[in-house]
Amino acid sequence: MSQPILSLGPFQGITDAPFRNVFKRHFGGIDKFYTPFFTGIHKEDHAKNLQGEEIDPRYNDVETLTPQILSTDAEEILRFAKQCKQLGYKEINLNMGCPFPRVANKKRGCGLLPYPDKVDAMLKRVFEEIDIKFSVKCRLGYFSPEEIDAIIPIFNKFPLSELIIHPRIGKQLYKGEADVGRFAALIPFIKAPLVYNGDIVSVGSFEKIREAVQPVNQFMLGRGLLANPFLAEEICGSAYNAPERTERLRNYVIDLYEDRLHHAGGSPKVLGRMKELWSYLMNSFEEPLVVWRKIKKINALKEYEEAVEYVFTDNKIIL
Ligand SMILES: Cc1cc2nc3c(=O)[nH]c(=O)nc-3n(C[C@H](O)[C@H](O)[C@H](O)COP(=O)(O)O)c2cc1C
Repeated sequence: MSQPILSLGPFQGITDAPFRNVFKRHFGGIDKFYTPFFTGIHKEDHAKNLQGEEIDPRYNDVETLTPQILSTDAEEILRFAKQCKQLGYKEINLNMGCPFPRVANKKRGCGLLPYPDKVDAMLKRVFEEIDIKFSVKCRLGYFSPEEIDAIIPIFNKFPLSELIIHPRIGKQLYKGEADVGRFAALIPFIKAPLVYNGDIVSVGSFEKIREAVQPVNQFMLGRGLLANPFLAEEICGSAYNAPERTERLRNYVIDLYEDRLHHAGGSPKVLGRMKELWSYLMNSFEEPLVVWRKIKKINALKEYEEAVEYVFTDNKIIL
């Protein structure tokens, strides 16, 4: 089988520009990245959220990064597309997967999936004018996994550059299992290049899923890669011993912290994002809860630095 194409899914509050850049300095295997979603794209000269490091091409690789928008307003999507194109990006992605009630209850994110007519009208308007590649990331539905059956014929009417499906429903949030069988059953009905996303946490789970979703060969990694940043390299065939992993993981975590600290002018607010990452990264350690207890309550930079030293030197073997 040919080498799979791997991307990293967006995580609001974790996979921002500093994360993506530091990750790329330390690890390989990921072909494509997505920004966490943008919202509120107002008139061009007021689009403050499209300025700054998160989107500025000086801090991002426009060839491999796809900016994502959460919106149901075709005019807003078109404004976003236009500005991303001006910045040099080649593609934008529409978030139709966000499951959080405050989003989904407003018929945004996966909350749009029960409304095929709205999706149709929105995409029709978008494709009248868009002149940049346009992809969609969605779930099977909000309330039921059958909702996607009415949405697929609509997707098929438009030249999506890619359709990423995370086979859960919104009501599950991130719980339960991704329904790989349901994803596989949808493959013959979908025209757009398909990307599988959900529950790839190890080389073993990747192989199993890959087998089940053939001939799909594009996969978006998520929490599995946050927990084990070696995952994409391992899927591509690399293997490392424990001392090598410890050394590389330590360098990565310290580099990310220092980079964030530098950008935040030394403010302890960086600890929030580092702790978010540790809530996944702890799973790279033999005793995740020992690691997590050490990190989670910290509020001062010095304490955090000491805790990280302890975690890496004292007693925790990296799996
Ligand atoms: C805290 C958190 C933030 C997320 N933010 C986004 C986001 O901004 N855009 C998006 O499309 N998906 C977002 N996701 C979903 C992930 O990109 C991914 O689709 C999901 O975790 C399923 O893949 P996994 O099972 O491999 O983790 C987020 C998930 C979590 C847990």
